Amino acid sequence: MAIYAVWNNKGGVGKSYLTFQMASEYALQNPTTKVLVVDLCPQANVSSMLLGGIDQGEERLTAIHTTLPKKTISGYIDDRILSPYVAPNTGSNYITNVSQYNSMIPSNLYLVVGDEQLEIQSSKVTAATFSGPQDAWRIVHLWIRDLIADIRTSWDDEDCCIFIDCNPSFSIYTQLALTASDRLIIPFSADGSSKRAVKAVLALAYGVRRYPTDAQSDFFVNTNRYQMALPKIYMFVGNRLTQMNNSSAGAFKTVVNQIGDEIWNVWQTSASFFCVHPNGAVTPRNRTTFKKMFQYEVNDANTASVVSGALGIPISRLTAGNKTLSGRTVSVNQSQLDKQVPNIHDLVQNIE
Ligand SMILES: Nc1ncnc2c1ncn2[C@@H]1O[C@H](COP(=O)(O)OP(=O)(O)O)[C@@H](O)[C@H]1O
Ligand SMILES: [Mg+2]
Repeated sequence: MAIYAVWNNKGGVGKSYLTFQMASEYALQNPTTKVLVVDLCPQANVSSMLLGGIDQGEERLTAIHTTLPKKTISGYIDDRILSPYVAPNTGSNYITNVSQYNSMIPSNLYLVVGDEQLEIQSSKVTAATFSGPQDAWRIVHLWIRDLIADIRTSWDDEDCCIFIDCNPSFSIYTQLALTASDRLIIPFSADGSSKRAVKAVLALAYGVRRYPTDAQSDFFVNTNRYQMALPKIYMFVGNRLTQMNNSSAGAFKTVVNQIGDEIWNVWQTSASFFCVHPNGAVTPRNRTTFKKMFQYEVNDANTASVVSGALGIPISRLTAGNKTLSGRTVSVNQSQLDKQVPNIHDLVQNIE
């Protein structure tokens, strides 16, 4: 059992898209294992995709949001705002079996639905870290871990795989995702701002200073103070690395290599931040083996990815041909599927 947080301190790098694809593909490849997606982003993009995409998914999301008691992440957070320091053991009330809504999703995939109310609740979550017992910060930062523990108990602690889709901001709910997870998947795109965001992840979560005089985040200071485990870095996923033409391919490569240099440097001083995998693998000794273990690439799937997300059809279940999106006809090419399907398949083969 592993809990993966999918986070980068930047929006639009593919966190939600990859969470959708990875969780669905993992569920397809491992039909007897339960897969759980916890949507900790108030935009609820991964929930929308899983529930059927921009038309049906959004409608179903609205239906779930307007039914009381609310079966969403905010329903659980409300329980915790009422009982911040004593676990209410109510987590299992908040799971949805996605296949009941969307037949394209395997029946072993479950979701804690995202909710925009999370944004409004965040000040109350933060307030709970300041009052109460002396270790209130620690207890509050385990709320999502408690939620997952409740769900696992209701599953008789069966083997399962869990993905948490995060918001880009280093908000309290992103922090709760990090303290709930064992492993971190960091998607990035090949641009300068992505490079900065990767550095920000290392600084905010792991205290890697850019300059010796930099202050460290309260999160880093407090996780140390309470000796809380941080998720180990599992993989960096360069996403949408299209080769449109030779010059842009070259530019992409430069940025991807710079990000590779950055994490290679961190590895050399702080290998303990990383999760050597698969279980039993030999610790990388050089740049090539390090890259093989920690750096992955997912190509831009163009229309296929748009249709996959918009209709809530995992990429390996999508077929080529004309599709209708909100009344418009869009064509999916077999050549796009021929690239993206094995790409996602191989990525998931590397997830334990
Ligand atoms: N590999 C990919 N190929 C094509 N489009 C992609 C790919 N990954 C993500 N996208 C698109 O990029 C946009 C941003 O992705 P998203 O997952 O919402 O980012 P984030 O969650 O990091 O903010 C979405 O429209 C998504 O469909
Ligand atoms: Mg997102």
